[in-house]
Amino acid sequence: MHKEEAAKRIEKLKEKIKDLNYKYFVLDKSEVKESVRDSLKRDLINLENEFPEFITEDSPTQRVGSTLSGRFRKVKHSTKKKSLSDVFSADEIREWYTRIKKLVNGKIEFVCELKLDGLNITVLYENGVFKRALTRGNGVEGEDVSHSVRTIESIPLSLNEEIDLEASGEVIMPKNSFEKLNKIQVEKGKNEFANPRNAAAGSVRQLDPKIAASRNLDMFFYHIDSKVNEEISSQEGNLKFLKKLGLKVCNKYKRLSSIDEVVKFCESWHEKRDTLGYEIDGIVIKVNDLEQQAKMGNTAKSPRYAIAYKFPALQATSQILDIIFQVGRTGAITPVAVMKPTLVAGSTVSRATLHNEDEINKKDIRIGDTVIIQKAGDVIPEVVEVLKDLRTGKEVKFKFPKICPVCNSKITRNEKESAYRCTNPSCYAIEHASVKHFVSRKGFNIDGLGKKLVEQLMQVGLVQTALDIFLLKREDLMSLDFFMDKKTENLLKSIEASKNINIDHFLFALGIRYLGEQGSYDFAKYLIKHTKKSKKRIKKIKIEKEQEEMFAVEETEGGEEKFSILDMIETAKSFSMEEIINIDGVGEKIGKMLYDWFNAEKNIKELEGLYSVGIILKTLHLESEGKLDKKSFVLTGSLETMTRDQAKDLIKKNGGKIHSTVTKETDFLVAGASAGSKLKKAKELKTKIISENELKKMLG
Ligand code: IVH
Repeated sequence: MHKEEAAKRIEKLKEKIKDLNYKYFVLDKSEVKESVRDSLKRDLINLENEFPEFITEDSPTQRVGSTLSGRFRKVKHSTKKKSLSDVFSADEIREWYTRIKKLVNGKIEFVCELKLDGLNITVLYENGVFKRALTRGNGVEGEDVSHSVRTIESIPLSLNEEIDLEASGEVIMPKNSFEKLNKIQVEKGKNEFANPRNAAAGSVRQLDPKIAASRNLDMFFYHIDSKVNEEISSQEGNLKFLKKLGLKVCNKYKRLSSIDEVVKFCESWHEKRDTLGYEIDGIVIKVNDLEQQAKMGNTAKSPRYAIAYKFPALQATSQILDIIFQVGRTGAITPVAVMKPTLVAGSTVSRATLHNEDEINKKDIRIGDTVIIQKAGDVIPEVVEVLKDLRTGKEVKFKFPKICPVCNSKITRNEKESAYRCTNPSCYAIEHASVKHFVSRKGFNIDGLGKKLVEQLMQVGLVQTALDIFLLKREDLMSLDFFMDKKTENLLKSIEASKNINIDHFLFALGIRYLGEQGSYDFAKYLIKHTKKSKKRIKKIKIEKEQEEMFAVEETEGGEEKFSILDMIETAKSFSMEEIINIDGVGEKIGKMLYDWFNAEKNIKELEGLYSVGIILKTLHLESEGKLDKKSFVLTGSLETMTRDQAKDLIKKNGGKIHSTVTKETDFLVAGASAGSKLKKAKELKTKIISENELKKMLG
C-alpha cells in the first residue's frame, strides 16, 4: 500500500474503531461482534507497524480499554489497570511462551483461567468491609458503580478477614438470566440486549440500583490488585486466598506445567464452552509464579506474564481485492470475493461467496470494500456486511457478466431463481464440476482420484464424462506425469473396487439437482421396495453377465444384496410424478427434478453406460433397525470418537434422517466442537441439542 493510501486508511480505521468503542463501552450497544472490532484493530496495528510515522497518541491501539460515560462519579484507580494482549491461535500462544521464557530462569508453570465475558470491576474492601466498586474506565480512572455492584448477592459485604483488599473480577449475567431478561424486554416493548456481556454492563451502569438487583448478576474474582499477604507466591495462591476470604472464584482454572498442556486446555474449552451456564470468550493464560511475573515486566499496554487467548471468531473483517465467477455443476454462476487472507473460525480464509447478483446489489458490495465475513462449521465463508464508513471513493462497482465466463455461451436467469446459469450443457466448467462431484467423498469416493487428478485427466482429454473414468487403461495413465507402475496399478484397482457402490452414494454421484445425501437415501429405499425387473433392457444391451442381472435383488456370496442399474431405470421410469413427490423424504422440489431426470433419454444413456462398465449397486445398508424412527438429525461441529460420515451412517442405519440445515422439523442437533450458526439456529428454534455421547446412548 502507498504511504498516502495507508495514511487515509489509518484515519478511517481509527474513526471507525473509536465509534464502535464508544457504542460498546459507553452506550452498551454492540453494532458489530467483538471479533469484528478486534479484526479492525488488528488491521490498524499492522498498518501502524508498517507506517509507524502515522501513529498518533489518540489511536485506539495506543490506549487501554474504554471511555467513561460521565454518568457516574469518576475515581482514580490505585494502580493503573492494564489489559491483556490477545492471541488467536496455538501458534501465537507458543510465540508468547518463546518470548517470556527468555526473561526468567527456571521452569515456568501456568495457571489457565476461563476468560469470563462480562464487565471488569474492581472492588475495594477496607477492614474487610465492602467500600467501593469501580469499572475499569480508561484504566486510570473508573466509574463508581458501588450502588449497583453491592446488590449482587454473591459479593459479600464483609470478608472473612478484616483486611484491606483491592481485588478485581468479572461481573457476568448467567445465560438463563439473560434469556429471561430479554423475554421481559420484549414483553415491555423494549430493545433486547445483544449478549449477556452487554446486559451485565447495562445493568451495572444504571443509576437506579434496583435494576441491577433484579437482574440476577454474578461476580467471579480473579485478580488481587494490592499486595495483602506476603506468604502468597503464586496466582493459584491468590485464587485460593480470594476464596478463603469468601469471594467467588471460578473453579474451572487449572495449573499446568507445559505449553502443550496449555494449548490442549484452550482447545478443550473451546469445545466445552456451551456446557457452561455463562459465556466465556477465551482462556486467560497466566504465569503462576508471582516472582517470575514481576521479572517479566510490562509492555506499554499490558503485563507480559499473561495473555488472553480468544476462541476462534466466526466473524472477522477483510478487504475485497477482486470478484471472480465460478461455474458450478448445475451451470449456476456464483460470484466469489477474492480477499486479503484473514483468520476466521480458526482458519485463514481468502475467498468468500457473494451468492448471487441480487445479494451483491442488496449489500452494495464493491471491489476494494472492507467487509465483515462469517464462517460457521464447514459452510463456505460469506460476506455479511460492507463497512461503508471505510470507503475511500476508489471502490469499484462490479458488473455481472452477460455471458458464461468459462465457455462464453449465453447465460439465463429463471424468473423464480436468483442464479444465472450457463445454457451450454457441454460447458467445460459444468463438465469438470460434474466429474469432480461424481468422484467426491460422498459419491464414488475413489481412492487416489482427487480433484487435481480429475482436472489433469480432463485437461489431457482422457476423461470427458464420469463414464470415461471406468474406461481408463493402463497405458492412458502411464502417459501422465508421475504415473509409474505402482501408482497406475493402485488407481486402476481402486477404480475397479469403486464399482461396487452403495445405491444412495450412486444416486448422489449422478449430481441430480437438489438431490442431497438424505434425498438419495430416501429415494433409494423406495426404489428397492418397488423394484421392476428390466428383462427387455438386458436383452437390448448385449453385455456379459446378462443372466445374472435378471433379478433385481440377488444374494451374492458375501451376503451383500445388489441391485442392477437397469432395474433402477425401469423402476424409476415406472413412477408417476405424483408418486415420486409423495415418497417419504422427497417432496415436490426434488420429486419434479427426479421425474424429469429419469425421463430424459440423455440421462438414461448415461446410466446404461455405467451399467455396461460393471457398476453394481449395494443395498444391504438400507435395512434400518429403526431405533431412531424417522427422527430428523442435523450434525454440527467436529465429533470426538467418530467422523461425521460415520455418525451419519449410524443415524441412517438406525432409521433416522440426516439434514444439513436446522429447521422447525429438525428433531435433534448433534453438536460437536466448534459448533457455529447451526447451534445458534437450534437454540432459537428450541431444537433439542444433544452431544455425541447422548446420540450413542439413544442407540443403546
Ligand atoms: S486477568 C492484569 N483473568 O479479560 C490482568 N482477566 O484483558 C487483569 N477477563 O479486561 C485481567 N476473565 O475483564 C483476567 N480470568 C480472567 C479473566 C479476565 C475475563 C477479562 C478482563 C480483562 C480482559 C483481559
